[in-house]
Amino acid sequence: MDLKTEVESLRLRLEELNYAYYVLDDPRASDAEYDELFRRLESIEKTNPELASPTSPTQKVGAPPLSAFTTVTHGEPMLSLANALNDEDIADFHQRITKLLGEDLVAKFSFEPKVDGIGLGLTYENGELTLAATRGDGTKGEDITENAKTIRSIPLRLRESSTYPIPSFIEIRGEAFTTTKDFEAFNAKRTEEEGRYANPRNFTGGSLRQLDSRITASRPLDALFYATGKSVGLTVTSQEELIQAFQSWGLKVATPYFKICKSVEDLIESHHHLEDQRDQVPYEIDGTVLKVDDFEQRKILGFRSRNPRWAIACKFKSRRASTRLLDISISIGRTGALTPVAVLEPVPLAGVIVSSASLHNQDEIERLDVRIGDRVLVERAGDVIPKVVKVLTEERTGEEVSFTMPTSCPVCHTAVQKDPEEVVLRCTNSSCTGILRGTIAHFVSKNALDIDGLGEKLVAQLIDAKLVTSMDDLFHLQFDDVVALERMGKTSTKNLLAAIEKAKNTTLPRVIFGLGIRHVGEHVAEVVAASLGSLESLIKSTEEDLLAIHEIGEKAAQSIVSFVKDENNVATIHRLIESGLNAKNAPKATGGVLAGKTFVITGSLPNLSRKDAENLIKKHGGKPVSSVSKKTSFLVAGEKAGSKLKKAQALGVEVIDESALRMMIEQEETT
Ligand code: IVH
Repeated sequence: MDLKTEVESLRLRLEELNYAYYVLDDPRASDAEYDELFRRLESIEKTNPELASPTSPTQKVGAPPLSAFTTVTHGEPMLSLANALNDEDIADFHQRITKLLGEDLVAKFSFEPKVDGIGLGLTYENGELTLAATRGDGTKGEDITENAKTIRSIPLRLRESSTYPIPSFIEIRGEAFTTTKDFEAFNAKRTEEEGRYANPRNFTGGSLRQLDSRITASRPLDALFYATGKSVGLTVTSQEELIQAFQSWGLKVATPYFKICKSVEDLIESHHHLEDQRDQVPYEIDGTVLKVDDFEQRKILGFRSRNPRWAIACKFKSRRASTRLLDISISIGRTGALTPVAVLEPVPLAGVIVSSASLHNQDEIERLDVRIGDRVLVERAGDVIPKVVKVLTEERTGEEVSFTMPTSCPVCHTAVQKDPEEVVLRCTNSSCTGILRGTIAHFVSKNALDIDGLGEKLVAQLIDAKLVTSMDDLFHLQFDDVVALERMGKTSTKNLLAAIEKAKNTTLPRVIFGLGIRHVGEHVAEVVAASLGSLESLIKSTEEDLLAIHEIGEKAAQSIVSFVKDENNVATIHRLIESGLNAKNAPKATGGVLAGKTFVITGSLPNLSRKDAENLIKKHGGKPVSSVSKKTSFLVAGEKAGSKLKKAQALGVEVIDESALRMMIEQEETT
């Protein structure tokens, strides 16, 4: 046998063994046998570089690190789905489809688990893997080819199939995931310093985003597939066939959960059945996905904005667990608000160990009638903070102790005050270190300055060591001071200081949001930044200036003015600027056929949801606003338009419908 033939036969054999082991979960050789074949192939490729190939099984071990991921545009967008939250939504979905298809076409549906992983798109050209990308914003993702190649169950070459010829080009979509068992085993081996991942999904995402694919290779990732993007030469005509084709090409699919349903009852029952079986599924699922099976029927149904009309994601109810409430502690936020926090006996829930939950305020404590020592039910929906939802009163022993909120701040001991209009208690001592912690934590948080590696614990340490007494102190931290803090090493200190330096170049909305002004959330910060343009004009702004900005209401305007009236705040902003904080406004979207025009949407539009209509308007330079005034350019009215329509007519605002809006835009798209 010549070397070339030997190489090909070694590759085929190794591919076969990988497939059996990782896709079928049916090992067909001993580790020793596999290793021997692998080493033989590796050695031939090394001594005969002309025989090497990017799709050889030896390429599944990772490549030298990249300096960054590059952006790639998907051949066809990676879609997202509309959600169904209950049985009624599923029934509505079924009814809509039946109505749209008419009586002659009876739809069959595919039923699949909704895998709670990381969306992944693979491109195969003539059966060879040439690209792997993350979903990104749906249109553009990141090129993570080197990382995806290390996932054992992803074939670098598709297997030949006699029933389903391999298309010359195909984008295959699915989900990277980690089984619960593999995730737990990995975390159990990690030390506290290395950091543990919160749940399998974060673990999968973190592992896929490694610039060094050899690290990804060392992680137990898996992937399964359920859809296609762009393709050339694909012969399948339904979801059922697609799943069979994927399987025959050696790709993993959601067996044994995939099935076909023929009625609405079947869909609803199957959904609940899988929900009940959820814990027996080896990977995390957060719902089911229902799709019209037949591709011709899908074409008839088409899209509603970015979502296909022919599919829906049905969410499972949040997971709950019962545990004991050991104590109630008080946390102080940046606004001085005192929040009671339930200290819980640690309990595993939806992939994480829950040991605390917010109780919001005294009213909530009374509403739940929760007492220290109670057994309680906690719930965690998605990534949201856990919540105490119910007290198991039948398990009370009589030893439970009621709780009342303190009358003074637990950090600085100043008497707390209660806003007459609110249920919240606040510490009003502006030099309270509890408030400072909240202020700084907010300033550096993800949607504000986004300083990597600066979590709440470290913020507290910096404050306790008196290294930080105000936001701008962050920009004057010295290496020697930080490295001396507990748990900080040379590398982590260097990284932290570099992250802070990097955060100096940021955007104006992030800084305005980061200042933590009450009633100024991300959106208000964006609007204010776009209109005022700099921190200097923010300082000088009056209530009148602010109220003239579209979408800024009285509450936000008053709150901003009272913030910039406080000399301390102004001094802080000046010191931030002097420290080199460079808050540039994001470039304004200019142009677009709707530029300078404002739109109010009312009633239900025939083909667009409210959000989609707003996005469409924004995309073309227009500005969607919520209430009609003389200044409004157009009212877009749909079915059941009410008082806004009357008001627009009274004010002489031009009223248009969805198709008129589309015509305005189409002018732009064709010119
Ligand atoms: S189908 C039309 N099927 O859930 C094709 N998606 O909003 C679009 N997902 O972004 C996706 N399991 O990442 C589909 N069996 C499944 C899925 C699934 C998980 C994810 C996917 C998508 C999101 C839907």
